[in-house]
Amino acid sequence: MPTPPITAPVELYRDPAVFERERHAIFARSWQFLGLEADLVRAGDYLAEVLAGYPVMVVRDEQGALRGYHNVCRHRAGPLVADAKGRCDGEFICGFHAWRYAFDGQLKEPTGFGPADGFDPGDYSLFPIRAEVWRGLVFVNLDVAAAPLIETLKPLDERLGRQPRRSARVRDSHPVACNWKVYVENYLDGYHKEGIHPALATEAGAQRHDVHMVGEVALHEVVNSEGSAGTVWAWIWPSLGVSVYRGVLLLEHIRPEGPNRTHIDHIFLHEAEDPSVEAAILNAERIAEEDARVSERVQQNLNAGIFRQGVLSPSHEDAVAWFQSRIVWLLADKAVGQ
Ligand code: FES
Ligand SMILES: [Fe+2]
Repeated sequence: MPTPPITAPVELYRDPAVFERERHAIFARSWQFLGLEADLVRAGDYLAEVLAGYPVMVVRDEQGALRGYHNVCRHRAGPLVADAKGRCDGEFICGFHAWRYAFDGQLKEPTGFGPADGFDPGDYSLFPIRAEVWRGLVFVNLDVAAAPLIETLKPLDERLGRQPRRSARVRDSHPVACNWKVYVENYLDGYHKEGIHPALATEAGAQRHDVHMVGEVALHEVVNSEGSAGTVWAWIWPSLGVSVYRGVLLLEHIRPEGPNRTHIDHIFLHEAEDPSVEAAILNAERIAEEDARVSERVQQNLNAGIFRQGVLSPSHEDAVAWFQSRIVWLLADKAVGQ
């Protein structure tokens, strides 16, 4: 019989220094979901977000390419764009002292800076990041030398196969008072259904629910008496859930904001005239609410200091074990700068 792994140390879920290290070791080096390519149609259209404390943006340039940058001016760190999405007219103008940048990141005009010996605007281009699109979803990577996005997404891409065009969307966003890893681990286990999601457990009937890792993608396999045709339930390292259920594709973006604070962004994509959408969305929101509540109670208990280390089921919590050991390994990497 396999020996059950011990859970990761509780400090990893509450220590601000660990959170800061995760920003560098994990979120500055992996592909993060940013938004929908449908919002980047014309030159100057942009999307912006704060991902694990990094304000970033992606713009459609005049040649039609997507370009990604840190949303930070090289003068004194002002913001280049103010909103989560919008349009810039041919250039970025900093919101602090109005330095002007071209979409290729070059500083065109250090507005009103005045004469300054040895100051070369060519030394003050925007900090670039990577931006790529997969199936209409825009991802960014702060590591400009990162491997292509598809290398991470390939197992999910193959699992999804052909999908209908889903042009309609519904969004919502919820703060959850827990560490981002508590919520991810909840997403990675198919073990908690009976206790937390009674309606889901009843609906699915007698079944097996396995989660296995393929590269950096977790694939849930739910096999019940009705089969699981059309249902996909997946997670992509480090913090994006992707599911297809009753014809609705749900992106669940788990955005860390602090050791005890996480934001969950939901985007539901569906076919325009699908009558079952409302029920599917209500169902997903109920499940997310149940997951959020239990995650907050888990965080409270991790903070309380009684629980030190638990144990993972070799039958049901393989993906959680994979995730925790990867976190521990990455945080131990001395090569990661602080
Ligand atoms: S901080 Fe951007 S122009 Fe001053
Ligand atoms: Fe759940």
